[in-house]
Amino acid sequence: MTDLFSPVKLGSMVLANRIVMAPLTRNRAAMPGNVPQDNNVTYYTQRASAGLIITEATPISAMAHGYPATPGIHTAEQVAGWKKVVDSVHAKGGKIVLQLWHVGRISHPSLLPDNALPVAPSAIKPAGQAYTYEGLQDFVTPRALEVNELAGIVQEYKAAAQNALEAGFDGVEVHSANGYLLDQFLRDGSNKRTDQYGGSIPNRSRLLLEVMATVCKVWGADRVGVRISPINPFNDMHDSNPQALFNHVAEVLSPFNLAYLHVMEIGIGATEALPDFDFASLRRAFRGNYMANGGYDKARGNAAIANNLVDCVAYGVPYIANPDLVERFAKDAPLNQADQSSFYGGSEKGYTDYPALGA
Ligand code: PHB
Repeated sequence: MTDLFSPVKLGSMVLANRIVMAPLTRNRAAMPGNVPQDNNVTYYTQRASAGLIITEATPISAMAHGYPATPGIHTAEQVAGWKKVVDSVHAKGGKIVLQLWHVGRISHPSLLPDNALPVAPSAIKPAGQAYTYEGLQDFVTPRALEVNELAGIVQEYKAAAQNALEAGFDGVEVHSANGYLLDQFLRDGSNKRTDQYGGSIPNRSRLLLEVMATVCKVWGADRVGVRISPINPFNDMHDSNPQALFNHVAEVLSPFNLAYLHVMEIGIGATEALPDFDFASLRRAFRGNYMANGGYDKARGNAAIANNLVDCVAYGVPYIANPDLVERFAKDAPLNQADQSSFYGGSEKGYTDYPALGA
């Protein structure tokens, strides 16, 4: 019977099991410079028994940052820092892909070069506040990208993808979820453009497809995944017809023959009821491997795989507190509980000090 412990091939990546470490923002890069450092090497290496590690969301350029101390992939120092992470995970037999991230409007001038305004599809201020070095500050109204600037954004993804290749990763995941730049283009609550990048669903999908084409050219599509979050309202996101939008996205992504489609199936911090959404229909619209994420435990993961609803499952919060999640699932051992107060920022505490079994 196929379950979480069965090997699986995602594109050309052969995973020892179907338990994936989800991307998790932890805000522990070395500053200044947003450079991966020794404690990041320790953290990822502790988790190398995952079938696949997806790194925390990683800014592709100086303008792509929206939180303190997030490790980037746009300077030589960052590439060298990530190479240490990758080499150490590989030495333990693990596999690791880098998540390529541009935050778009979810940022603040104090986090950007020359106090620049964040960029977005449209000049619409999201409700809420940015995490800055000076504490929480209200989001600002972003600057709408000119149509002739979008090739430059695609170019930033290309350069970052090349940097990830140089660092030795097994592949990359394009972050098109959770209210960041590519998701801001997809959903019509944040995209009010009247050019070929706004309006119809194909138009709103255009930037994502251009980014995917470019990243696949660098890496080969068999080492590229993409993450979407059709119903996540996080970061003030809305869409008038998420099923139509994301089924279209799944259909037009299929011909790339990607390594996988990664779907966050829940909402973060939802206060209102989430829209109805048929994830089985989304999965049928995508030709390729489906990675599910959001509130799965071992039993639900195994059931979803056995019933052929998903190919693999990404675990987030459980991986914060359980570096040896694979071994714990295998033995039905109890899980450590994650301490929310140390999720974002800080040092070893709540980062690399969760015990493995028998430790
Ligand atoms: C966050 O830092 O809160 C965050 C980052 C990336 C995500 C989701 C949340 O995809």
